[in-house]
Amino acid sequence: MVDAVSNALRNERMVLGESVFKFEEEFARYIGTKHAVSVSSGTAALALSLIALDVTDLEVLTTPLSFIATANAVVQAGGVPTFSDVSEMDYNIDPAKVRKRLTAKTKAILPVHLFGHPADMDGLMDIAKSKGLKMVEDAAQAHGATYRKAKVGSIGDVGCFSFYSTKNMTVGGDGGMVTTDDEELAKSVAKLRNCGRTSRYVHDVIGFTARLNTANAAFGLVQLRHLEAWNERRRSIAALYSKILKGVGGIALPPQGNKDVNPVFHLFVIKCERRDELAKHLSDMGVECGVHYPVPIHLQPVYREMYKFAPGSFPISESLSSSLLSLPIFPALRDAEVKYVCEQIIDFFGGP
Ligand SMILES: Cc1ncc(COP(=O)(O)O)c(C=O)c1O
Repeated sequence: MVDAVSNALRNERMVLGESVFKFEEEFARYIGTKHAVSVSSGTAALALSLIALDVTDLEVLTTPLSFIATANAVVQAGGVPTFSDVSEMDYNIDPAKVRKRLTAKTKAILPVHLFGHPADMDGLMDIAKSKGLKMVEDAAQAHGATYRKAKVGSIGDVGCFSFYSTKNMTVGGDGGMVTTDDEELAKSVAKLRNCGRTSRYVHDVIGFTARLNTANAAFGLVQLRHLEAWNERRRSIAALYSKILKGVGGIALPPQGNKDVNPVFHLFVIKCERRDELAKHLSDMGVECGVHYPVPIHLQPVYREMYKFAPGSFPISESLSSSLLSLPIFPALRDAEVKYVCEQIIDFFGGP
Protein backbone atom coordinates (compact mmCIF):
# COMPACT_ATOMS: atom_id res chain seq x y z
CA MET A 1 0.00 0.00 0.00
CA VAL A 2 2.81 2.39 0.87
CA ASP A 3 4.52 1.52 -2.43
CA ALA A 4 1.28 2.11 -4.33
CA VAL A 5 0.82 5.51 -2.65
CA SER A 6 4.39 6.54 -3.30
CA ASN A 7 4.14 5.43 -6.92
CA ALA A 8 0.94 7.46 -7.36
CA LEU A 9 2.50 10.55 -5.78
CA ARG A 10 5.56 10.32 -8.02
CA ASN A 11 3.76 9.61 -11.29
CA GLU A 12 0.20 10.90 -11.21
CA ARG A 13 -1.70 14.12 -10.67
CA MET A 14 -2.43 14.46 -6.95
CA VAL A 15 -6.13 15.06 -7.65
CA LEU A 16 -8.20 13.05 -10.15
CA GLY A 17 -5.15 11.03 -11.24
CA GLU A 18 -5.33 7.67 -13.00
CA SER A 19 -5.62 5.65 -9.76
CA VAL A 20 -8.89 7.40 -8.93
CA PHE A 21 -10.56 6.16 -12.11
CA LYS A 22 -8.99 2.71 -11.80
CA PHE A 23 -10.26 2.41 -8.21
CA GLU A 24 -13.75 3.48 -9.29
CA GLU A 25 -13.76 0.94 -12.11
CA GLU A 26 -12.62 -1.92 -9.88
CA PHE A 27 -14.98 -0.96 -7.06
CA ALA A 28 -17.95 -0.83 -9.46
CA ARG A 29 -17.00 -4.26 -10.80
CA TYR A 30 -16.69 -5.65 -7.28
CA ILE A 31 -20.06 -4.28 -6.10
CA GLY A 32 -21.76 -5.12 -9.40
CA THR A 33 -22.92 -1.67 -10.51
CA LYS A 34 -22.30 0.11 -13.79
CA HIS A 35 -20.77 3.15 -12.10
CA ALA A 36 -18.79 4.07 -8.99
CA VAL A 37 -17.82 7.64 -8.14
CA SER A 38 -15.22 8.21 -5.44
CA VAL A 39 -15.60 11.05 -2.96
CA SER A 40 -13.89 12.42 0.13
CA SER A 41 -15.91 10.55 2.79
CA GLY A 42 -18.92 8.35 3.44
CA THR A 43 -20.82 11.42 4.57
CA ALA A 44 -20.03 13.13 1.25
CA ALA A 45 -21.17 9.97 -0.59
CA LEU A 46 -24.56 10.20 1.15
CA ALA A 47 -24.94 13.98 0.96
CA LEU A 48 -24.00 14.27 -2.72
CA SER A 49 -26.25 11.34 -3.66
CA LEU A 50 -29.16 12.96 -1.84
CA ILE A 51 -28.45 16.33 -3.49
CA ALA A 52 -28.35 14.59 -6.88
CA LEU A 53 -31.73 13.00 -6.09
CA ASP A 54 -33.00 16.45 -5.01
CA VAL A 55 -34.48 15.93 -1.58
CA THR A 56 -34.82 19.68 -0.94
CA ASP A 57 -37.51 20.23 1.74
CA LEU A 58 -38.55 16.58 1.41
CA GLU A 59 -38.32 13.77 3.95
CA VAL A 60 -35.77 11.00 3.92
CA LEU A 61 -36.71 8.13 6.21
CA THR A 62 -33.84 6.44 8.02
CA THR A 63 -32.86 4.64 11.21
CA PRO A 64 -32.24 6.27 14.58
CA LEU A 65 -29.65 3.55 15.35
CA SER A 66 -26.67 4.57 13.23
CA PHE A 67 -23.71 6.88 13.19
CA ILE A 68 -25.00 10.47 13.16
CA ALA A 69 -23.56 11.07 9.66
CA THR A 70 -26.42 9.05 8.12
CA ALA A 71 -28.97 11.66 9.18
CA ASN A 72 -26.59 14.63 8.95
CA ALA A 73 -26.20 13.95 5.22
CA VAL A 74 -29.96 14.41 4.77
CA VAL A 75 -29.79 17.81 6.46
CA GLN A 76 -26.69 18.78 4.46
CA ALA A 77 -28.61 17.90 1.28
CA GLY A 78 -31.45 20.25 2.28
CA GLY A 79 -33.84 17.45 3.24
CA VAL A 80 -35.65 16.60 6.47
CA PRO A 81 -34.52 13.45 8.31
CA THR A 82 -37.34 11.29 9.67
CA PHE A 83 -36.90 8.03 11.54
CA SER A 84 -38.44 4.60 11.81
CA ASP A 85 -37.59 2.24 14.65
CA VAL A 86 -35.41 -0.83 14.06
CA SER A 87 -36.30 -4.50 14.28
CA GLU A 88 -35.19 -6.50 17.35
CA MET A 89 -34.11 -9.22 14.93
CA ASP A 90 -31.43 -7.47 12.87
CA TYR A 91 -31.19 -3.94 14.35
CA ASN A 92 -32.05 -2.50 10.91
CA ILE A 93 -35.14 -0.56 9.86
CA ASP A 94 -38.21 -2.71 9.76
CA PRO A 95 -40.38 -2.57 6.60
CA ALA A 96 -43.59 -3.04 8.62
CA LYS A 97 -42.81 0.09 10.66
CA VAL A 98 -41.45 2.02 7.67
CA ARG A 99 -44.87 1.87 5.97
CA LYS A 100 -46.45 3.69 8.93
CA ARG A 101 -43.86 6.47 8.92
CA LEU A 102 -44.24 7.53 5.27
CA THR A 103 -45.90 10.86 4.51
CA ALA A 104 -46.79 12.77 1.36
CA LYS A 105 -43.38 14.47 1.69
CA THR A 106 -41.28 11.31 1.83
CA LYS A 107 -38.88 11.21 -1.09
CA ALA A 108 -36.46 8.44 -0.18
CA ILE A 109 -35.72 5.58 2.19
CA LEU A 110 -32.21 5.41 3.61
CA PRO A 111 -31.56 2.02 5.23
CA VAL A 112 -28.22 1.36 6.94
CA HIS A 113 -26.71 -2.13 6.72
CA LEU A 114 -25.77 -1.79 10.36
CA PHE A 115 -22.67 -3.56 11.69
CA GLY A 116 -22.25 -5.19 8.23
CA HIS A 117 -25.62 -6.97 8.35
CA PRO A 118 -27.83 -6.31 5.29
CA ALA A 119 -31.22 -4.74 5.93
CA ASP A 120 -34.42 -6.46 4.70
CA MET A 121 -34.04 -5.13 1.17
CA ASP A 122 -36.92 -7.10 -0.38
CA GLY A 123 -39.39 -5.63 2.08
CA LEU A 124 -37.95 -2.13 1.70
CA MET A 125 -37.70 -2.26 -2.10
CA ASP A 126 -41.36 -3.37 -2.31
CA ILE A 127 -42.37 -0.25 -0.40
CA ALA A 128 -40.10 2.03 -2.45
CA LYS A 129 -41.43 0.65 -5.74
CA SER A 130 -45.06 0.79 -4.75
CA LYS A 131 -44.77 4.37 -3.43
CA GLY A 132 -42.36 5.69 -6.06
CA LEU A 133 -39.62 6.42 -3.51
CA LYS A 134 -35.86 6.47 -4.06
CA MET A 135 -33.70 3.95 -2.20
CA VAL A 136 -30.32 5.11 -0.92
CA GLU A 137 -28.35 2.32 0.79
CA ASP A 138 -25.94 3.37 3.52
CA ALA A 139 -23.37 0.60 3.07
CA ALA A 140 -20.65 2.42 5.03
CA GLN A 141 -20.26 -0.62 7.30
CA ALA A 142 -20.96 -3.38 4.81
CA HIS A 143 -18.42 -3.59 1.96
CA GLY A 144 -18.93 -7.01 0.40
CA ALA A 145 -22.01 -8.09 2.39
CA THR A 146 -24.62 -9.80 0.21
CA TYR A 147 -28.41 -9.95 0.19
CA ARG A 148 -29.81 -12.75 -1.99
CA LYS A 149 -26.42 -12.94 -3.72
CA ALA A 150 -26.39 -9.21 -4.62
CA LYS A 151 -23.76 -7.04 -2.96
CA VAL A 152 -25.27 -4.33 -0.81
CA GLY A 153 -24.88 -0.98 -2.53
CA SER A 154 -26.12 -2.52 -5.80
CA ILE A 155 -29.77 -3.07 -4.81
CA GLY A 156 -31.26 0.40 -4.39
CA ASP A 157 -30.93 3.42 -6.67
CA VAL A 158 -27.62 4.25 -5.08
CA GLY A 159 -25.14 2.79 -2.59
CA CYS A 160 -22.87 4.82 -0.31
CA PHE A 161 -19.63 3.54 1.21
CA SER A 162 -17.14 4.96 3.70
CA PHE A 163 -13.43 4.16 3.76
CA TYR A 164 -12.79 5.67 7.19
CA SER A 165 -9.91 3.85 8.85
CA THR A 166 -12.01 1.50 11.02
CA LYS A 167 -14.07 0.19 8.09
CA ASN A 168 -13.73 -3.29 6.49
CA MET A 169 -11.51 -1.59 3.90
CA THR A 170 -9.93 1.83 3.97
CA VAL A 171 -8.01 4.23 1.75
CA GLY A 172 -5.40 5.21 4.35
CA GLY A 173 -7.46 8.21 5.45
CA ASP A 174 -10.94 9.52 4.78
CA GLY A 175 -12.75 8.53 1.61
CA GLY A 176 -16.05 7.32 0.22
CA MET A 177 -17.74 5.85 -2.85
CA VAL A 178 -21.10 6.16 -4.56
CA THR A 179 -22.28 3.12 -6.55
CA THR A 180 -25.15 3.16 -9.01
CA ASP A 181 -26.46 1.82 -12.32
CA ASP A 182 -27.94 5.24 -13.11
CA GLU A 183 -25.61 7.09 -15.46
CA GLU A 184 -27.22 10.50 -14.89
CA LEU A 185 -26.93 10.13 -11.13
CA ALA A 186 -23.27 9.09 -11.43
CA LYS A 187 -22.53 12.12 -13.63
CA SER A 188 -24.34 14.40 -11.25
CA VAL A 189 -22.35 13.15 -8.21
CA ALA A 190 -19.09 13.37 -10.19
CA LYS A 191 -19.90 17.01 -10.99
CA LEU A 192 -20.95 17.87 -7.43
CA ARG A 193 -17.72 16.45 -5.94
CA ASN A 194 -15.67 18.53 -8.41
CA CYS A 195 -16.90 22.07 -7.62
CA GLY A 196 -19.93 21.72 -9.91
CA ARG A 197 -17.72 21.86 -13.02
CA THR A 198 -19.06 21.10 -16.46
CA SER A 199 -15.63 21.99 -17.88
CA ARG A 200 -12.49 23.56 -16.46
CA TYR A 201 -13.85 27.08 -15.93
CA VAL A 202 -17.60 26.54 -16.20
CA HIS A 203 -19.90 25.54 -13.33
CA ASP A 204 -23.65 25.02 -13.62
CA VAL A 205 -24.47 23.88 -10.07
CA ILE A 206 -23.22 24.79 -6.60
CA GLY A 207 -20.66 22.05 -6.07
CA PHE A 208 -18.23 20.95 -3.40
CA THR A 209 -14.56 20.09 -3.14
CA ALA A 210 -15.21 16.48 -2.22
CA ARG A 211 -12.88 14.42 -4.40
CA LEU A 212 -10.90 11.39 -3.25
CA ASN A 213 -7.16 12.14 -3.45
CA THR A 214 -5.18 10.07 -5.95
CA ALA A 215 -2.84 8.70 -3.24
CA ASN A 216 -5.85 7.47 -1.25
CA ALA A 217 -7.33 5.82 -4.34
CA ALA A 218 -4.02 4.00 -4.94
CA PHE A 219 -4.14 2.77 -1.34
CA GLY A 220 -7.77 1.68 -1.78
CA LEU A 221 -6.97 -0.31 -4.92
CA VAL A 222 -4.61 -2.52 -2.93
CA GLN A 223 -7.05 -2.85 -0.02
CA LEU A 224 -9.87 -3.88 -2.34
CA ARG A 225 -7.87 -6.92 -3.41
CA HIS A 226 -7.68 -8.08 0.23
CA LEU A 227 -11.29 -7.34 1.12
CA GLU A 228 -12.80 -10.78 0.48
CA ALA A 229 -10.12 -12.54 2.54
CA TRP A 230 -10.47 -10.01 5.35
CA ASN A 231 -14.27 -10.40 5.36
CA GLU A 232 -13.86 -14.18 5.51
CA ARG A 233 -11.56 -13.80 8.53
CA ARG A 234 -14.13 -11.54 10.20
CA ARG A 235 -16.79 -14.21 9.60
CA SER A 236 -14.65 -16.89 11.18
CA ILE A 237 -13.94 -14.68 14.22
CA ALA A 238 -17.70 -14.07 14.52
CA ALA A 239 -18.33 -17.83 14.30
CA LEU A 240 -15.81 -18.50 17.06
CA TYR A 241 -17.31 -15.84 19.35
CA SER A 242 -20.78 -17.25 18.69
CA LYS A 243 -19.71 -20.83 19.37
CA ILE A 244 -18.09 -20.01 22.71
CA LEU A 245 -20.67 -17.48 23.90
CA LYS A 246 -23.76 -19.47 22.89
CA GLY A 247 -25.95 -20.08 25.91
CA VAL A 248 -24.06 -17.71 28.24
CA GLY A 249 -26.71 -16.12 30.47
CA GLY A 250 -27.00 -12.34 30.35
CA ILE A 251 -26.09 -11.92 26.68
CA ALA A 252 -27.71 -12.32 23.26
CA LEU A 253 -25.60 -12.96 20.16
CA PRO A 254 -25.83 -10.69 17.09
CA PRO A 255 -27.97 -11.60 14.08
CA GLN A 256 -26.26 -14.31 12.03
CA GLY A 257 -26.16 -14.97 8.31
CA ASN A 258 -28.72 -17.21 6.62
CA LYS A 259 -29.49 -18.40 3.11
CA ASP A 260 -30.41 -14.88 1.99
CA VAL A 261 -28.00 -12.78 3.98
CA ASN A 262 -24.21 -12.99 4.18
CA PRO A 263 -23.01 -10.33 6.65
CA VAL A 264 -19.44 -9.04 6.89
CA PHE A 265 -19.27 -8.40 10.65
CA HIS A 266 -17.91 -4.90 10.53
CA LEU A 267 -18.67 -5.14 14.25
CA PHE A 268 -19.51 -8.07 16.52
CA VAL A 269 -22.16 -6.65 18.80
CA ILE A 270 -23.66 -8.50 21.74
CA LYS A 271 -26.79 -7.41 23.56
CA CYS A 272 -26.20 -7.69 27.28
CA GLU A 273 -27.39 -6.91 30.76
CA ARG A 274 -25.25 -4.51 32.84
CA ARG A 275 -23.51 -3.35 29.67
CA ASP A 276 -21.42 -0.58 31.22
CA GLU A 277 -20.26 -2.83 34.07
CA LEU A 278 -19.25 -5.53 31.58
CA ALA A 279 -17.38 -2.96 29.46
CA LYS A 280 -15.53 -1.80 32.59
CA HIS A 281 -14.68 -5.39 33.54
CA LEU A 282 -13.35 -6.09 30.05
CA SER A 283 -11.36 -2.87 30.06
CA ASP A 284 -9.82 -3.84 33.43
CA MET A 285 -8.82 -7.15 31.84
CA GLY A 286 -7.15 -5.37 28.91
CA VAL A 287 -9.99 -5.70 26.36
CA GLU A 288 -11.12 -2.51 24.67
CA CYS A 289 -14.74 -2.54 23.51
CA GLY A 290 -16.90 0.01 21.73
CA VAL A 291 -20.50 1.11 22.07
CA HIS A 292 -22.47 1.62 18.85
CA TYR A 293 -24.33 3.76 19.61
CA PRO A 294 -24.82 5.05 23.16
CA VAL A 295 -27.10 7.88 21.99
CA PRO A 296 -29.56 7.20 19.14
CA ILE A 297 -29.49 9.95 16.52
CA HIS A 298 -32.88 11.47 17.38
CA LEU A 299 -31.71 12.01 20.97
CA GLN A 300 -28.45 13.74 20.04
CA PRO A 301 -28.61 17.31 21.39
CA VAL A 302 -28.65 18.86 17.91
CA TYR A 303 -31.57 16.66 16.74
CA ARG A 304 -33.55 17.29 19.92
CA GLU A 305 -33.00 20.99 19.43
CA MET A 306 -33.72 21.11 15.69
CA TYR A 307 -36.55 18.57 15.38
CA LYS A 308 -37.92 18.40 18.96
CA PHE A 309 -37.45 14.65 19.41
CA ALA A 310 -37.92 13.32 22.94
CA PRO A 311 -37.10 10.01 24.65
CA GLY A 312 -39.65 7.27 24.01
CA SER A 313 -40.04 8.07 20.29
CA PHE A 314 -38.19 4.93 19.09
CA PRO A 315 -38.18 2.52 22.03
CA ILE A 316 -36.27 -0.40 20.46
CA SER A 317 -33.40 1.80 19.29
CA GLU A 318 -33.34 3.52 22.67
CA SER A 319 -33.24 0.26 24.57
CA LEU A 320 -30.50 -1.15 22.27
CA SER A 321 -28.46 2.00 22.89
CA SER A 322 -28.09 1.00 26.51
CA SER A 323 -27.55 -2.74 25.98
CA LEU A 324 -25.28 -3.20 22.91
CA LEU A 325 -21.56 -3.80 23.32
CA SER A 326 -19.12 -4.16 20.41
CA LEU A 327 -16.43 -6.78 21.08
CA PRO A 328 -13.05 -6.55 19.34
CA ILE A 329 -13.14 -7.77 15.73
CA PHE A 330 -10.59 -7.15 12.99
CA PRO A 331 -8.84 -9.52 10.59
CA ALA A 332 -5.56 -9.66 12.54
CA LEU A 333 -7.32 -10.67 15.79
CA ARG A 334 -6.09 -14.15 16.80
CA ASP A 335 -8.30 -17.07 17.87
CA ALA A 336 -6.51 -17.13 21.25
CA GLU A 337 -7.46 -13.48 21.78
CA VAL A 338 -11.11 -14.19 20.91
CA LYS A 339 -11.09 -17.03 23.45
CA TYR A 340 -9.56 -14.73 26.07
CA VAL A 341 -12.32 -12.13 25.52
CA CYS A 342 -14.97 -14.85 25.84
CA GLU A 343 -13.43 -16.18 29.07
CA GLN A 344 -13.64 -12.70 30.61
CA ILE A 345 -17.31 -12.41 29.61
CA ILE A 346 -18.10 -15.88 30.98
CA ASP A 347 -16.29 -15.01 34.24
CA PHE A 348 -18.33 -11.81 34.52
CA PHE A 349 -21.69 -13.54 34.10
CA GLY A 350 -20.67 -16.60 36.11
CA GLY A 351 -20.48 -19.31 33.44
CA PRO A 352 -22.79 -20.67 30.70
C1 LIG B 1 -23.40 3.91 8.96
C2 LIG B 1 -22.47 5.02 8.61
N1 LIG B 1 -22.88 5.97 7.74
C3 LIG B 1 -22.07 6.98 7.39
C4 LIG B 1 -20.80 7.09 7.87
C5 LIG B 1 -19.97 8.27 7.47
O1 LIG B 1 -18.79 7.94 6.85
P1 LIG B 1 -17.52 8.92 6.96
O2 LIG B 1 -17.01 8.85 8.36
O3 LIG B 1 -16.56 8.34 5.96
O4 LIG B 1 -17.97 10.27 6.59
C6 LIG B 1 -20.33 6.11 8.76
C7 LIG B 1 -18.99 6.08 9.33
O5 LIG B 1 -18.19 6.75 9.67
C8 LIG B 1 -21.18 5.06 9.15
O6 LIG B 1 -20.78 4.11 10.01
